[in-house]
Amino acid sequence: MLFIIVHQTFELWFKQIRWELEAVNRRLSSTVLADREIGKIVSGLQRIARIQLLMFEQIGVLETMTPLDFLDFRDRLVPASGSQSVQFRIIENRLGLRDRVTVGRQPYTAALSPEHQAMVARSEQEPSLFDHVERWLDRTPFLHVGEFDFWTAYREALHDLLGRERRTIDASGDLDDHARAELRARSEKIFSAFETLFGPEADQESMTAEKRRLSQKALLAALLISSYPDEPALQLPSRLLTALIDVDIGFATWRYRHALLAHRMIGGKIGTGRSDPSYLEAAIDQHRVFRDLSDLPTYFLPRHALPALPPDVLEQMRFRYGDD
Ligand code: HEM
Repeated sequence: MLFIIVHQTFELWFKQIRWELEAVNRRLSSTVLADREIGKIVSGLQRIARIQLLMFEQIGVLETMTPLDFLDFRDRLVPASGSQSVQFRIIENRLGLRDRVTVGRQPYTAALSPEHQAMVARSEQEPSLFDHVERWLDRTPFLHVGEFDFWTAYREALHDLLGRERRTIDASGDLDDHARAELRARSEKIFSAFETLFGPEADQESMTAEKRRLSQKALLAALLISSYPDEPALQLPSRLLTALIDVDIGFATWRYRHALLAHRMIGGKIGTGRSDPSYLEAAIDQHRVFRDLSDLPTYFLPRHALPALPPDVLEQMRFRYGDD
């Protein structure tokens, strides 16, 4: 009974998440996004993040069942499995998941009925949350305003910071030569990754090597928004980026909790859906949709080191009331 109740409750919450995701995607599909809409999009994503908290808790309810209790009825479940949750697959697709861990070279829809396969195929075809967010970021103004070029200004500031960091590493007496060389190499690597990802020379090869998915312009826009989140025009966009990270990490956390649950119930046995025990663990890492946003802090500068925005850019970013 408990097993069924918990699964069905999950399916209900999946349904609500699908509903919220569709509303968010509909709003984001507009080519001109009013501030009012961004507020609603953020609220929708925050609701999903709250539901995810419930989902983690629910796993704890199922964990009151022991592995022996589970073995009492496990055979009767075969070949039923969580991979038959059509709603879960639709959620993944509507978020924008593409690069999946495969199970025995089978398509990820193999466990579904033909009717459910058609539903999942449809959910792949429409633009996903990832697609909408990328297009919205691509349209972000303020990257070039008059003489101001955000990338050039940011690059100089990052260069200065890394130069200071390097001098500190060289001067630190508690490091031996090997540790010092390792730290310097790490710092150089961050800078060259920044150059190849954000600079004019960036190419598809370096994007792939760094496992980036967002376009270069979208990444730069996300860096700008995240660096100046208190500027009035960037306040809502920055909350939107935070909410996307919350939801993405929420699903990764659910996957992790679920993989731990599966491990404590069945150890290293093959799943009822015939997956290898490593599948669930590999998916935690690989099935991230907005990893680019979580990776971005690698290039963050402390507030005091950020390039100052020129007055005309600040003017464009402020709220306006009446004739002021
Ligand atoms: C005794 C408890 C559970 C065990 C042992 C378990 C085990 C597994 C295993 C081994 C897989 C990989 C596919 C397979 O070979 O079957 C899987 C997938 C899945 N399970 Fe569970 N599960 C449990 C509970 C749940 C619950 C409560 C849910 C809630 C809906 C759930 C949802 C899913 C989903 C959505 C997948 C597909 C995940 C993916 O492909 O990334 N499972 N589960």
